[in-house]
Amino acid sequence: MEKLKKLWNDRSNQLRYARWIIQYTRPYIGKIILMMLITLAQTIMTLVMVQVTKTIIDNATGGNSFVNLIIIYIVMIVGMQILEIFMSLFSTILNERFSFGIRKQIYEKIIKSHWMDVRKYHTGDLMTRLTSDAGNIADGIIGTIPNIIQLCIELILIFFMLFYYSHLLAIFALLVAPVADVSTWWFGKKLRKLQVKLQESEAAYRSFMQESLANLLIVKAFANEDYSMEKLTKLRENRFYWLYKRTKMGVVTSTAMSFSFQIGYIVAFAYGALQISRKVITYGTMSVFISLVNRVQAPIMGLAQQIPKVVSILASAGRIMELQNIPLEEKEAKNIKAERIGIEVMDMTFGYTDEPVLKDASLKINPGEFVAIVGESGIGKTTLVRIMMSFMSNIEGKVSYFNESGEVENSNAGTREFIAYVPQGNTLFSGTIRENIRMGNLNATEDDIIEALKLASGYDFVMELPQGLDTVIGERGHGLSEGQAQRIAIARAFVRKSPFLILDEATSALDETTELAVLQGLQKLTPRPTCLIITHRKSILQYCDRELKIEDKKVSI
Ligand SMILES: Nc1ncnc2c1ncn2[C@@H]1O[C@H](COP(=O)(O)OP(=O)(O)OP(=O)(O)O)[C@@H](O)[C@H]1O
Ligand SMILES: [Mg+2]
Repeated sequence: MEKLKKLWNDRSNQLRYARWIIQYTRPYIGKIILMMLITLAQTIMTLVMVQVTKTIIDNATGGNSFVNLIIIYIVMIVGMQILEIFMSLFSTILNERFSFGIRKQIYEKIIKSHWMDVRKYHTGDLMTRLTSDAGNIADGIIGTIPNIIQLCIELILIFFMLFYYSHLLAIFALLVAPVADVSTWWFGKKLRKLQVKLQESEAAYRSFMQESLANLLIVKAFANEDYSMEKLTKLRENRFYWLYKRTKMGVVTSTAMSFSFQIGYIVAFAYGALQISRKVITYGTMSVFISLVNRVQAPIMGLAQQIPKVVSILASAGRIMELQNIPLEEKEAKNIKAERIGIEVMDMTFGYTDEPVLKDASLKINPGEFVAIVGESGIGKTTLVRIMMSFMSNIEGKVSYFNESGEVENSNAGTREFIAYVPQGNTLFSGTIRENIRMGNLNATEDDIIEALKLASGYDFVMELPQGLDTVIGERGHGLSEGQAQRIAIARAFVRKSPFLILDEATSALDETTELAVLQGLQKLTPRPTCLIITHRKSILQYCDRELKIEDKKVSI
């Protein structure tokens, strides 16, 4: 009841979700209807088979021939099997297409929205929406909703057929319906609550295993092995508790259901036997009673089971729509000529929260300049770079790029074309070293890659690896040293040959000689880019034309 009330109060949202689902489903409507028609044909065939069975029994008891009817019966069984095979293949394909369609849409949305808006979500949360929520909707559209329509049609057809043979039994079967529906609703509600608890405990248990495996080194370094084992055991016990409760509830529910089935069955059986003894009906009609009473109850039970599923489909649609509502980042069509590029930031204010990190900050870097940015840890250096890269959506003030011909373009997703960026921290992907470098420029030739690697002082160590550029590295560059990973990330930026280069603590893990070599490589880049270097090291400053300092939420010279 509470759930119903909640649904009712939230009806405008639920309607929005439902409308979204309908709109999304439109291209698949034809195929879904075809599927429903086939299931309907199956229902009608089973009803015809009931009728045929009756005639066979009546003919047999009346001493008439029934061979032809048996043949018809067998042909129908074979036909049903063929339809069944077709249906299961068809619905699997349709489900896969449908769920991939939704996944692709969400993935595209995530990739093409502002980084900051998406980054608010936990990666695990995004993954859940991409996988289980999308799957839930697909199951709902391909399975649950056609099923509900199908069950309703089935119920009406069977009811009238039963009504034709016995008014009394038909009405009795209908009376069982509300009782069965209310009880399954009640049990279902309890079951759902337990299911949520079980899923939560399962998530906790899994994340613990995943996280401790990913940080195995820390577990060992702090001698946490026994502690980890104990924690795992506790989490498993918690999971087991909910699993046991859920299973107990499931058993009670299914027992109650089958019990009400049995009652219906026994009533039909006793009533049929009574009618036969009074010679009011034939044995054939008796077989109709028994099978139809069974069949009329199946859709009633089925319908009751669909209600929680509909609730969960709408919930998933809501979670997906939340992502759909994130605005896409603007990418302006017109790019200024990217010869030599400078940047101007004017009265810019930005904060991750209400508290700004940078306030009314201004700076200008002319084309071709080498500029260093310094400032204590946590002051906003990386944040400034993210703003220049237009990763954030809620910036006050103006950030624009300009070239030597005086053309100006406000920063947007498109102006990232001008920039080659080496982010702070290890940002390599799993895969080969070549693949990692090529991500900087998908059109790079082998020569371009080698040249960039040489300028980043990474060529020698890569060539010493047995597989060279084809060496496969793990997540976040696992298999390379920090300094080696940094040089690959620098080569990835160099290969882009962009007019503007941003290095965020890109050489922090390098020794002085290697760092010097990288900076000299940087000077040799052709064409020579404008360069913004964030650093804590004084030694780098001698390579720069100017030094900017972030202080008191402003950029000062
Ligand atoms: N995603 C985020 N959400 C909320 N606050 C953030 C986020 N990222 C950074 N901050 C905060 O913004 C401030 C500036 O962070 P930023 O990463 O720009 O510092 P930084 O100057 O690059 O420091 P470091 O030298 O340590 O790299 C910090 O106080 C930090 O806590
Ligand atoms: Mg930083």
